[in-house]
Amino acid sequence: MSDATAAELRAAGGPSAAGEPWASAGAQAALGLGAAGFRRVLVLGGTSEIATAIVRELATREPCEVALAARDPQRLGDVAQQLRAAGCARVQTLALEATDPDSHRAAIARGIELLGGACDLVLLAVGLLGERGGLPDDPRGAVEVLEVNVVGCGSLLLESARALRAQGRGTIVVLSSVAAERPRAANAVYCASKAGLDALAQGLADALAPTGVRVLVVRPGFVTTRMKRGLPVPPLSTDPEGVARATARGLRRGAHTVWAPSTLRWAMALLRLLPRPLFRRLPL
Ligand SMILES: NC(=O)c1ccc[n+]([C@@H]2O[C@H](COP(=O)([O-])OP(=O)(O)OC[C@H]3O[C@@H](n4cnc5c(N)ncnc54)[C@H](OP(=O)(O)O)[C@@H]3O)[C@@H](O)[C@H]2O)c1
Repeated sequence: MSDATAAELRAAGGPSAAGEPWASAGAQAALGLGAAGFRRVLVLGGTSEIATAIVRELATREPCEVALAARDPQRLGDVAQQLRAAGCARVQTLALEATDPDSHRAAIARGIELLGGACDLVLLAVGLLGERGGLPDDPRGAVEVLEVNVVGCGSLLLESARALRAQGRGTIVVLSSVAAERPRAANAVYCASKAGLDALAQGLADALAPTGVRVLVVRPGFVTTRMKRGLPVPPLSTDPEGVARATARGLRRGAHTVWAPSTLRWAMALLRLLPRPLFRRLPL
């Protein structure tokens, strides 16, 4: 927590030191940080179509200030324009490279600085799909998926958690996937990467619960974004807006896990129980 924010909180009846339970509802309200408020949003993977839809959905309730972090400045500029047009009060951009963990602490600090020194919500949306199939033809590409989705996202999650714990509050949304729930032959590497990130997010959610920092794990199925362009659309697919509505609902009700669409929760519970020889025969 910045000194200024800590002082404001003390004045408003909030906690006296970082790591203490978050301020009373009155103190939060005094600072414009209502329990359900997600006004200042840092998006890691700021050009993600799903993350952009989540910000647009949140902005229908309150005017968000947004910091978008990703690699491509041109695409970041385009997304920033879209969000301004959607009513976001202030949208700024910064560079982020997921495969350079040494840069993550500074990037997150910069993102929070751009938001005025405090952050209500971190959206972790970085992700790579990679080659489809059980044994990839390109092992280097498979390693890149693991580097981005597990090592890179893992590092971004840990650094985000440290930053929010230091300010004494905040929420991290982790875009996991149904792929984390049961690995499929059609996409073994991506499934493994999402399972690793999902496990880290769940463990951290429990570890951080007493600190006032929340972690919400979002597990979408097939979402019609550029990541899946050209692939056949399976049953129970959704669009970025569907994931956004489910995420916003999950944030409001304090959920720890969200499925999008919600029916996937039950479908995956059944699939998890299927014995491997049967599971192998499914056209998944
Ligand atoms: N689409 C689906 O069906 C689906 C389903 C379940 C879960 N998800 C997950 O949801 C998240 C968002 O997916 P999406 O569909 O919105 O895909 P997307 O539009 O392709 O977004 C992916 C994001 O990851 C960023 N990224 C990739 N590699 C990076 C790197 N090395 N360094 C920094 N940023 C990097 C991209 O930034 P650049 O612009 O710099 O490339 C982009 O912002 C991902 O984690 C994905 O795995 C997607």
